[in-house]
Amino acid sequence: MVKDRKLIIAGNWKMNKTAAEALDLVNGIKRELANVKEVDIVVCPPFTALAGVSEALLNSNIRLGAQNMSENGPGAFTGEIAAPMLKEFSVRYVILGHSERRQFQKEPDDLIARKAAAAHASALKPIVCVGETLAEREANITEKIVGSQVRGSLAGLSRELVEETVIAYEPVWAIGTGKTASAQQAQDVHAFIRGVLSEMFDDATARRVRIQYGGSVKPSNARELMSLPDVDGALVGGAALEARSFADIIRNSI
Ligand code: 13P
Repeated sequence: MVKDRKLIIAGNWKMNKTAAEALDLVNGIKRELANVKEVDIVVCPPFTALAGVSEALLNSNIRLGAQNMSENGPGAFTGEIAAPMLKEFSVRYVILGHSERRQFQKEPDDLIARKAAAAHASALKPIVCVGETLAEREANITEKIVGSQVRGSLAGLSRELVEETVIAYEPVWAIGTGKTASAQQAQDVHAFIRGVLSEMFDDATARRVRIQYGGSVKPSNARELMSLPDVDGALVGGAALEARSFADIIRNSI
């Protein structure tokens, strides 16, 4: 199916790969995907590998992303990373509000919104993650949870900037579990998110925002998920840690 939104498929390497291992992986991905132009391809290594991966990606069709950043500019914030430090390595995207950070670092929506604003102020495109837990799905409050995450995490953005924002719908129960949302479950939530964007902004804006699916995406399920009308890409964890499987996901999505 031809969509008017270009697919964006990103690998979230999470807390994996030393700088040396990251170079091996990115060189493998480059070889596998050298001629692919139909999809925006992004890799998000850990901070310590950004410099090396950035150099390896010079003049390639693959873009660089980070996995988090501070809502603050440079200053006395021990252990944090500011947007200009990412820009130095040609980082274009930054994952914000991943469910692991929402869970383990207790990141709330308003902090994620401040990070998204800070990212845009430095011309970094945020990939803002939302998604319900299993308990929330079973309690039938998926739309309530995801709706308030979308509203809270994108609060204050202009129409122009939300169009430069990627949303990743990642049901927490599907992350790293091998359990993928069914095509119907994914499409339903993606369409719901687009509806929330229409209410927050307008229909035309909502139609231009790319919404990725994440949660146990692999080569065998990528084609079906990527063909759904409101699914515009994937945020891939485990299957992005190996060049062949990440490349197969992308090839199967075209
Ligand atoms: P898995 O693909 O390992 O389920 O992880 C998904 C994810 O959290 C990507 O951000």
